Amino acid sequence: MNLELLNETAVKMVTPGQGLLAADESTGTIGKRMASISTENNEENRRDWREMLFRTDKAMQDHVSGVILFEETLTQMAKDGTPLADLITKNDALLGIKVDKGAKPMALKSGETITEGLDGLRERLYTYFEQGARFAKWRAVIEISNPDHSWNATPTYGAIKANTQALARYAALCQEANITPIVEPEVLMGGYHGIQTCHDVTEQVLKSLYADLYEHGVKLEGTILKPNMIVPGKRCPTQSSVAEIAERTIQVLQDTVPSSVPGIAFLSGGQDNIEATENLDAINKIGGFPWKVTYSYGRALQQAALFAWGGKSENYDDAQKAFNHRARMNGLASIGKWDSSLETV
Ligand code: 13P
Repeated sequence: MNLELLNETAVKMVTPGQGLLAADESTGTIGKRMASISTENNEENRRDWREMLFRTDKAMQDHVSGVILFEETLTQMAKDGTPLADLITKNDALLGIKVDKGAKPMALKSGETITEGLDGLRERLYTYFEQGARFAKWRAVIEISNPDHSWNATPTYGAIKANTQALARYAALCQEANITPIVEPEVLMGGYHGIQTCHDVTEQVLKSLYADLYEHGVKLEGTILKPNMIVPGKRCPTQSSVAEIAERTIQVLQDTVPSSVPGIAFLSGGQDNIEATENLDAINKIGGFPWKVTYSYGRALQQAALFAWGGKSENYDDAQKAFNHRARMNGLASIGKWDSSLETV
């Protein structure tokens, strides 16, 4: 394990003004995105879409420190035969790879999942490193049940523990292969629960995660955390102010994340584009924490560009314009310098 390299990668991933582009949707997930613009989910369309993003040089150079890829993309060629990976590295962005095999229903744990993919991971990681990947991602999924169903409340301690242990085993394997692990325990925001429940559950999950990372010997200087923000469930009748979301998010992170972690890169998790930018900006405007705090957005960076593209090559320029804009807005939010007036110019 080369801790210097792992730390150097982590620090670069959270360069001020930059963040991560999560373009690692599995074939099934990107199918949903393609369906939303009535475009067929085939290899060529997936390539064209991602090639367009990676060729948006301004966004990539100025605001993308690294791209998380799905395995297919790591070795895929652009239309002209250039490896897609080269389009990313030519813009001085790091190559990342999603290595988990998805969240699967947990046995005897109704409504809960365990993320799989540890079998054979050691060998896969050595190959990914040779193919140029310098960081990886593993996503655990924690779902909060409907508060009206307290007889079947989730998450349970057992599911949290199983998922944070898997994250720790994954992170240790990554570090052995000199690949910086992003540890992502996502508490989903789709439910009916209030912000206090998200606060409590996220705190419990992160406590469990850092205990397990310690027990597995993972060096925190060579990791990045990808958490959810502290928000009420989408279906909760009481929604929260940006200020409350920012304050609670900082509070939970300060209570759980050691200061040796170089950076925190949030997922957007279904927040609207501008909401994700505004919340990140509010967190960084408060500031005063020991880690760099930025984005690792999928939908919140891509959605506007996806709709502008609509699966049609003639919309290429409009799509790149939309991507440039969201990348710039989030880049500003990563240093607390975004303002809503910038959205209209
Ligand atoms: P979203 O920002 O769309 O949540 O995706 C980020 C991600 O990579 C989730 O694993």
